[in-house]
Amino acid sequence: MENNLKKIENEFFKKGFVKVNLQKKYFSKYKNLKKFIKKKFKKEFKNNDFEYFHKNVSFKEINKVRMDIINFINKNQKLKENIYFSLKPIIDTMLGPDIIIQKSINLGIQMPEDTSRPLFHKDTPLSSYHEIVLWIPLVDCVKSMCMLMVEKKMLKKAEKILNGKQKDRFEKFIKKHGKLKEIKFGQALVFNTNNYHYIPINKTNTTRWALNLRLKNLFTPYGERNLLDYYEILKISPISKMYSI
Ligand SMILES: [Fe+2]
Repeated sequence: MENNLKKIENEFFKKGFVKVNLQKKYFSKYKNLKKFIKKKFKKEFKNNDFEYFHKNVSFKEINKVRMDIINFINKNQKLKENIYFSLKPIIDTMLGPDIIIQKSINLGIQMPEDTSRPLFHKDTPLSSYHEIVLWIPLVDCVKSMCMLMVEKKMLKKAEKILNGKQKDRFEKFIKKHGKLKEIKFGQALVFNTNNYHYIPINKTNTTRWALNLRLKNLFTPYGERNLLDYYEILKISPISKMYSI
């Protein structure tokens, strides 16, 4: 399905996040990526699909395997370019002509019932406020496989919850205000770093796989992550190139 750019822009502006479709032409790149991963990590997959990766890998092993897969996929020079082209109209609309991208693409693997995961948080001020995060699932995500987003207008309330004392306050808050019930392979979530998000314990019987990476305009204010250590230039306008930094 084609993306309606104006609609996406409006929704992003209103909520701070939006679900979009990957450009059809580039969907095959993600399918190939999965093929490469499966081939390289044959031993770990043991013929299981991505969804059933947990059948042969324990909680103890998963982080080491995940790091190995991250190293492996980041050796592919084309990966960033492919991700960019798969969402080009949206990224260009959001960020303009001078764009920098996170150097190393991240990968989250959330196996059923694994409790180790980031807590309720937002990425600012470590990340720049002027940044977008792309969260791209490699499998269909339903119910608790989905990352839950809190709308921009709930920011103050979310902050209060964060400073509260009740042990189950995050679960209660997210049950009421968490958005995004389903995201399919072939889609992506685009969100602003200043939006709170929460990763529930995966209560389904399938493993969730999702890439995540950050992009911002070269000339917008930075957080604590700087250009040379954390990002690299993805594209630059002719006039910026002429006087390039
Ligand atoms: Fe985050």
